[in-house]
Amino acid sequence: MKKILVAGGNSGIGLEAARQLTALGHHVVLLGRDAKKGQAALAELQSQPGKAEFLAADLSTHSGVRAAAQALLASHDRFDVILHTTGVLLFDDVRTADGLHPFFAVNYLSRYHLTQLLLPLLRKSDSPRVIMLSSHIDLDTKIDFEYFPKFVPFDFGKARAAIQYGNHHYAVHLKNTEKNVLAAVVNAGLADTGIWRELPAQVRDNMLGSRKQNTIPESAVIPVALCVNDAWETATYWGTIGKLESTLLNLDLQETERLISVCKEITGA
Ligand SMILES: NC(=O)c1ccc[n+]([C@@H]2O[C@H](COP(=O)([O-])OP(=O)(O)OC[C@H]3O[C@@H](n4cnc5c(N)ncnc54)[C@H](OP(=O)(O)O)[C@@H]3O)[C@@H](O)[C@H]2O)c1
Repeated sequence: MKKILVAGGNSGIGLEAARQLTALGHHVVLLGRDAKKGQAALAELQSQPGKAEFLAADLSTHSGVRAAAQALLASHDRFDVILHTTGVLLFDDVRTADGLHPFFAVNYLSRYHLTQLLLPLLRKSDSPRVIMLSSHIDLDTKIDFEYFPKFVPFDFGKARAAIQYGNHHYAVHLKNTEKNVLAAVVNAGLADTGIWRELPAQVRDNMLGSRKQNTIPESAVIPVALCVNDAWETATYWGTIGKLESTLLNLDLQETERLISVCKEITGA
C-alpha cells in the first residue's frame, strides 16, 4: 500500500486518480482549496478499499503552502508519492498576496515549495516519487529571466511555456539532488474539467473545441501508472495521453540551477 498525496485531488484529473488509487487499496491524502468539494470527494471515496483523507489548503500563497506542509508534517510520517494536479487557468493580470500571478504560483511554484518542505516525508519511502501534471510544451523552451518570475505585465501566451517548464526543471533538479526520488512531468491532455470554469464561455468553447478532447479517466492513466509502477526512469516527460512512453529530460543545467535559485529566493525553501 502506497501513501499518496494528491495536491488538487478534490476535483478533475486529481480526483479521478484518487478514485483509481483507492480502488487499488492505496491511501490518498487530498489537498484542495474548496472544503465542500473535498468532503464530497471523501464521501465518494469512502466505499473504496483504500483510505482517503482531505486537507483544505490554499496553495496560491507562500503562507498557504507552509501551513499545508506544517499540517502534513505533523500528521504523517511518510509519503511515497506526491502527485501534483493543482491548476488554474487565468489570463487576466491578477496577483496573489505575494505579488505573483496565480498561474505561476499554483501551476508551478507551489509544487516546488510544497515538495521541498515535504522532502523529509518522501525520504522515509523506499521508492519515493514526484509527479507533476502540466500541458504539452516544447522541450527546448527557453526561460526569459527578465520576465520570470514576476511576469509583468502578464501575457498568457508569452508566460505559459516558461511557467510550465518550471516543472520540467524541478524534475531535473530532484534527479540531481535527491538520490532515490523519481520525478516526472505528465501532459494532462485536454479534458473537460473545472479548470476551464474561470474562462468566458466563448473562450472556453474555442479552447476546448480547438483540439481533440480526451476523457478525464484517460488523462489519469499515466499519473496513476507512475504512482503504482516502480520501474520508470527519472527525470522524464510523458507526453502522449494514455501511452506509457517517456522522453528523458535533457535540459540546460545552468538554466535549471538559475531557475531553482530564483524559486529558493522567493520561497525560502
Ligand atoms: N483539463 C485539461 O484539459 C488540462 C489541460 C492542461 C493541463 N491541465 C492540468 O491538469 C491538472 C489537473 O487539472 P484539472 O483539469 O483536473 O482541473 P480541476 O478539476 O480544476 O483541478 C484543479 C485542482 O487544483 C486545485 N487548486 C486550484 N487552485 C488551488 C489553490 N490555490 N490551492 C489549492 N488547490 C488549488 C483545485 O481545487 P479547488 O477546486 O478546491 O480550487 C482542483 O482540485 C492541472 O495541473 C492543470 O493545469 C489540465
